[in-house]
Amino acid sequence: TQALTFLGIESSCDDTAAAVVRHVPGQPAEILASIVEGQTALHAAFGGVVPEIAARAHAERLDHCVEAALAGANLRLSDLDGIAVTAGPGLIGGVLSGVMLAKGLSAASGLPMVGVNHLAGHALTPRLTDAVSFPYLLLLVSGGHCQFLIAGNVDDFERLGGTIDDAPGEAFDKTAKLLGLPQPGGPAVQAEAAQGDARRFAFPRPLLDRPGCDMSFSGLKTALLRARDAVIAEKGGITVQDRRDLCAGFQAAVADVLAEKSRRALERYLALNPPTPLLAVAGGVAANTLIRSRLTALCDRMGVRFLAPPLALCTDNAAMIAWAGIERFRLGARDDATLAARPRWPL
Ligand code: KG4
Ligand code: ZN
Repeated sequence: TQALTFLGIESSCDDTAAAVVRHVPGQPAEILASIVEGQTALHAAFGGVVPEIAARAHAERLDHCVEAALAGANLRLSDLDGIAVTAGPGLIGGVLSGVMLAKGLSAASGLPMVGVNHLAGHALTPRLTDAVSFPYLLLLVSGGHCQFLIAGNVDDFERLGGTIDDAPGEAFDKTAKLLGLPQPGGPAVQAEAAQGDARRFAFPRPLLDRPGCDMSFSGLKTALLRARDAVIAEKGGITVQDRRDLCAGFQAAVADVLAEKSRRALERYLALNPPTPLLAVAGGVAANTLIRSRLTALCDRMGVRFLAPPLALCTDNAAMIAWAGIERFRLGARDDATLAARPRWPL
């Protein structure tokens, strides 16, 4: 195996990103540049990502993100060994912009191109940051995703379960909206919860009574709405303390569900007798301090190493795409002008 330097391109949701990653076999991977241009401000007024706005922003920004990544790495296209691009799953307009750009760059430079599944990008991040070995367990918890995966190899992911409705980040964001807190909701709800009493309101723990690793978070949002409205009906409004208690109750319910489902996922993973057992997290919700401490305690109890990569690599970025491209390229993956953008693409 040779040293490889890849450009990564990511445009599947609301972040436009480009990165350059270099890997010399036997050494830690090096992120030479990683550019992420978020679109939170563009979508703020609409209470969610608007696909048409996202697509246009990606189309406008991809070129200069790639230029900035190459400049940051102090490299030209001809210095690279390949181009990796997210080919799905995601909002089709954005994915198309990225795939078309990659095809154009590949045709113009003669560099090989590798299409990458966005979820595989997240799932392979522990190998980019910490060179961990297979098999490991990954919990992906973001605004758009929530699932447990056993990463058995670069192209082999076993899904143990996941949300059957909303992702937890989405539930945090909706909770913030219902309580008049700013977006993104996760950090705002966490800050309020820190001063609240989690026991005051009784929130459900959805699906804990059912076996397996599937989760549900849409009921929590409904429970929060009801609890808020009950307080308003009783007192004519909600006080600062009411809001803190609601946030604390909600956050505790999410953490309980994630901790118990993680315990079950770990049991199934440990049954494989992995030589160096490891649970890694990815996704923006992994920033939550309560969820992190619950997972850390769980892993301590079960004799499993817990790994939370730096937040900038847990959330959407192109370094993970460049890295997944390098890993897939080493296994012989190559794509050509027929590479399709796929809105849906389960691992
Ligand atoms: O992975 P990410 O950046 O983007 C995608 O979902 O694609 O995750 C963003 C999500 C948002 O829903 C945000 O509210 C949530 O992660 N989040 C948090 C925290 N920080 C960010 N949720 C809970 N607690 C946090 N501290
Ligand atoms: Zn993502």
